[in-house]
Amino acid sequence: MPSLSPILSLENISKQFYSPGGQAVPVLQNISFIVEPNQTISISGESGSGKSTLLHLIGGLDCPSSGSVLWKGKCLAKLSTDQIATLRQNFMGFVFQNPNLIPELNALENILLPIRIAGKKLQPYLPKAMNLLHQLYIQNQAKQIPEKLSGGERQRIAIARALIANPEVVIADEPTGNLDEKNAAAAIELLLELCKKYHSSLILVTHNMAFAQKMQRSFVLKQGEFKAI
Ligand SMILES: Nc1ncnc2c1ncn2[C@@H]1O[C@H](COP(=O)(O)OP(=O)(O)OP(=O)(O)O)[C@@H](O)[C@H]1O
Ligand SMILES: [Mg+2]
Repeated sequence: MPSLSPILSLENISKQFYSPGGQAVPVLQNISFIVEPNQTISISGESGSGKSTLLHLIGGLDCPSSGSVLWKGKCLAKLSTDQIATLRQNFMGFVFQNPNLIPELNALENILLPIRIAGKKLQPYLPKAMNLLHQLYIQNQAKQIPEKLSGGERQRIAIARALIANPEVVIADEPTGNLDEKNAAAAIELLLELCKKYHSSLILVTHNMAFAQKMQRSFVLKQGEFKAI
């Protein structure tokens, strides 16, 4: 069977930061990997090992010190920040440890925020937003503001917001870090289910090995190197 063309490629990525004294601190070294459509991937590693740094590079939110990040064959280094931002709107969805919902907007409006930011009409996305609310068991909370929702409900809204614009990749950085065990397991199951349903690849950063093992491929970051586990 011919291999699918990668949706995301990292080619020899290295990243270093500089200490206040101006000394280079290497965080990531020579990392290469590809993500194919519909793939699910986990990234684990100790605190400070560079997981979030790697996700920022994958998301085009920061630039590597050397090497290339390609989205569907397009090298980000050749694009302007505005071009990357426009591409990202339809390419990537993000879920973070903290749901970061807008307090003044209700659940439905928060889910539709990426569409509003992209300057698109909301109407065509309403059926999907309502479907997501149902699938995430928050259909009765559509009009509720975040302050009046539980932590698990808020994180489910963040998951729906990440998926609303039909992204090809969902990036999740410790999305269950603030949830109890039961809500965390449910959130991971829902993320997997929805990524499968909407044909999004998933890159999950997690400390939880049971969650990592639910992904098709698992990697660990250690001393700047990226290894399959
Ligand atoms: N903007 C920055 N400037 C300088 N150093 C940074 C910067 N961002 C991250 N670092 C350093 O890079 C290293 C990796 O940080 P990163 O946030 O990627 O780790 P992480 O694996 O996501 O950790 P955690 O599990 O705690 O979230 C850390 O030592 C951190 O201090
Ligand atoms: Mg992190």
